[in-house]
Amino acid sequence: MNKINDLVKKMSLEEKAALCTGASPWSTTPIESLGLPELTVSDGPHGVRRVADVSNMIAASLPATCFPTASCMASTWNVDLIHAMGQALAEECIALKVDVILGPGANMKRTPLGGRNFEYYSEDPYLAGQMAASFINGVQSKGVGTSLKHFAVNNQETRRLSISSEVDERTLREIYLPAFETAVKKAKPWTVMCAYNKLNGTYCSENHRLLVDILKDEWGFEGFVVSDWGAVHDRVTSLKGGLDLEMPGPRERRVTAVIEAVRSGALSQSVLDESVHRILEIVFKAAETSKGGSFDTAIHHALARRIAAEGMVLLKNNGILPLGDEKHIAVIGRAAKEAHFQGGGSSHINPTQVDNPFEELKKLAGDAELSYAEGYPMDDSFDQAMIDEAVKNVRAAKVALLYLALPESKESEGYDRPDLDLTPQQVALIKAVTAVQPKTIVILNNGAPVVMSEWIDGTAAILEAWMMGQAGGGAIADILYGKVNPSGRLAETYPLKLADTPAHINFPGGNGEVRYGEGIFIGYRYYDAKEVPVQFPFGYGMSYTTFVFKNPKVSAATFRDVDGLTISVDVTNSGQVAGKEVVQVYVHDHKSRLVRPSKELKGFAKVALQPGETKTITLELDFRAFAYFHPAYKQWITEDGEFDILIGASAADIRCTQTVTLQSTLELPSILSQESTVHDWMDDPRGRQIFAPLFQQITAQMQARFGGGEDDATGMDPMGFLMEMPLTELLYFQGSPQTKSPEEMVAGLLSQVFGADR
Ligand code: BGC
Repeated sequence: MNKINDLVKKMSLEEKAALCTGASPWSTTPIESLGLPELTVSDGPHGVRRVADVSNMIAASLPATCFPTASCMASTWNVDLIHAMGQALAEECIALKVDVILGPGANMKRTPLGGRNFEYYSEDPYLAGQMAASFINGVQSKGVGTSLKHFAVNNQETRRLSISSEVDERTLREIYLPAFETAVKKAKPWTVMCAYNKLNGTYCSENHRLLVDILKDEWGFEGFVVSDWGAVHDRVTSLKGGLDLEMPGPRERRVTAVIEAVRSGALSQSVLDESVHRILEIVFKAAETSKGGSFDTAIHHALARRIAAEGMVLLKNNGILPLGDEKHIAVIGRAAKEAHFQGGGSSHINPTQVDNPFEELKKLAGDAELSYAEGYPMDDSFDQAMIDEAVKNVRAAKVALLYLALPESKESEGYDRPDLDLTPQQVALIKAVTAVQPKTIVILNNGAPVVMSEWIDGTAAILEAWMMGQAGGGAIADILYGKVNPSGRLAETYPLKLADTPAHINFPGGNGEVRYGEGIFIGYRYYDAKEVPVQFPFGYGMSYTTFVFKNPKVSAATFRDVDGLTISVDVTNSGQVAGKEVVQVYVHDHKSRLVRPSKELKGFAKVALQPGETKTITLELDFRAFAYFHPAYKQWITEDGEFDILIGASAADIRCTQTVTLQSTLELPSILSQESTVHDWMDDPRGRQIFAPLFQQITAQMQARFGGGEDDATGMDPMGFLMEMPLTELLYFQGSPQTKSPEEMVAGLLSQVFGADR
C-alpha cells in the first residue's frame, strides 16, 4: 500500500496517463525506471486465448485447452468442478505468461436469441452468481487474475457497441446486477470489464453510478475497471465515470487527452491518481506469480471431458439410453466427425487437441458396426441427396445417432440469432430419419436453446451436448454408453416457440434503445407468471437413475430475516446405478406489496449417490433469499409474512414444500406523500394510526350516502373507488366543509407521520 502510494507520488503526469491506456492490444504500459512491469491479459472465458504476438490484435493464439463454454459449465450446477476448471485455466495462464484472463461473463440470458449466450451462464442471477464466483475463486487461488464481464446489462449483439439497455431500477437490482454483485463480494475479481452498451442512456464505460456508486462504493470492489475492447468514447469522461484502464492500446490521443484535461483542470488529479493506484495494485499483485513453464495438457483435457459430461443434459430418453450392445449403429451428421465445441468471436480457442465424436464412440462401441453419413452441409443450404443417403444407412441399422450442430451463421459473438430453429435441412433430416427408425437419438451442439416441437415426438432420446469444449466428443460417448450417468440440468428454459419468450416484443429494440419491458420476469419467472407451457423447464435434466426427496426440514417455523433459515432434505438414489442429483431450493412469497415472481432460486447443491444411498443436504438461506429491491426505499427489503420453501428437481418439479413465517427486522421509513392513495395510507403502519380517525369519518359518510351498496348513478362500489383515490383528491371529492384545504390537511397528516421537521 505504502509502496504504491509512494510510487503514485513519484510518477509524472505523463506516466500516469500512459498507464491508464493499454500499451498494446493485450498489455499495459510498463515503466522500467520505476520497476513497473507490464500486465498481460488474454481472453477468456473458457480457455486461454493467448495471442502469440501481443502487439497484434488478431494474431493467432497459442494452443490451450478449450473447456466447455458457459452454457455447459452452468448446466453442471457443480461449483467445485467450475472451481477446478478455474484452477486449470490459471495453470495455463501461468504457462502462457498471462496475468489476467478475460472472464467470466455474468450477464443474464434475457432472450435465447442473444448471440453470446453461449458465453453466459444462466437466465437466473443466483445460479450465474455462484458459477461466476466459483470460477473466479478457482483462477485467483493460483495467483492469476480474472475480469468479470461485461458490466452490465449486456444482453444482445444487435448494435452492441451503442445500444442503450433501458431498465428500471428494481429489474436492474434483482435480475441484471446480482450475479456481478455475488461474484464481486464472494470472489473479489482483480478486474471488472465494463460493457459496450449504454445503460439507460449512459455508456457503461462512463457510467459513474454503475462503476463508482454501485461497484466500487456499494459493493467494495477493490480492483480496476477495464473497458471492453473499444468501449471508451471519451477518455476523460470515462475516467471520471470510474473506468480505470482503457483497452486496447496503443491510443496516443487518449493519453494526450488525459494529460491536457489534468493540466486544464477539467480532470482532477485525484481521479487520475485513484485509477493509477488501482492499476498498480493489480500489476504488482500479478507480478508476485512467476510465469512460464508448461501445463499438463492430458490432465486438462481429461478435466474438460469431465466438465462436458457433467454439463450435458439428457432432455429425453424413452429408455433407449444408455446404449447396450446394439450391433449396427448409423451415425449421421457432420458434427460426429467435425466436433462443434466452441463459439465464434473473442473466446475462440486454439485447442491442444480435439476429440472426434465418431472415433470416441467407436472406442466404446466394442464390436458394433458403425456406418456414417454427413446428413447436412456445413452451411444452412439444403441437399436432399444427403438426407436420402442418411435414410439408407439408417434403414440398415438398429439405432440411429444424429449429431447436429448449429452453423456459425446462426450463433456467434457479434450478431444475434435470427431464430431458435435448427437449419431446414437438419429438421428435414430428423423427420426423415425418425420416420424409418424410431430408435433415433439426437445429439445437439449449440450454445442456447433450439425449438423442437416440430420433430421431438419422433425421437427416442435427445442429448443437449452444448458447445462442449475440445473433449466433448468423448463426453458424448461416455453418456451414450452409460460410462457417465448424465447429471446436467438446464440453466435456462427451453421454450416451445420463439413467440413465447419473455423479451419477444421488446427485442432487439430500435432507435438506439432496447426497452426491458418484461422487467423482473425473465426466464422461468416469466413462464411461471404467464402460465406459458415450455418444452423443458429451468433446472430440468434426466438421469439413468431415480432420486427420492424425503424428510424436508427447516431450522425454524418462524424466523427473523437477519437470522436466515437452514433447510435440509434427505435425497436417496432409488435406482440401480450411481448418479448425481441437483437439489434446487426456490422461495415463494405468499404476499408482497410489489409483485414478485412466484418462485426464485435461492440455493442448490449437487450430490453424488450410489444406488440405495441417502445423503442429507443442508442449505442456508440468508436475508437476501427473502428480500426484494424496493425502488422507493432504494434498498432490499423484507416484509413480515409467510413464505414457501420449495425443494425440487427443477422449476417445474417441486418435491417438498415447507411454509415458514418471516419476521422482518427492518424499520422502514414511511414513503407516504401528497400523492398517496387511501389504500397507501391504510397500508402504512404509522400512516394508518394517524389516518384512522379521519378514515372512519369518511367511511361513515360514505355509508350514510350510499348505504353500503352500489352507487345508483354510476353502478360502482364507492368503497372500492375511494381506496384508490389520492387522499387529497378524496377530500375534495367529499366536499365537506373544512377550514383547511385538502392539501393542507394532508400536509398536516404527513407531518405527524414524519415528525415535525418535515
Ligand atoms: C469482447 C470481450 C473480449 C474483448 C477482447 C471484446 O470484443 O466483447 O469479451 O474480452 O473483445 O477480445
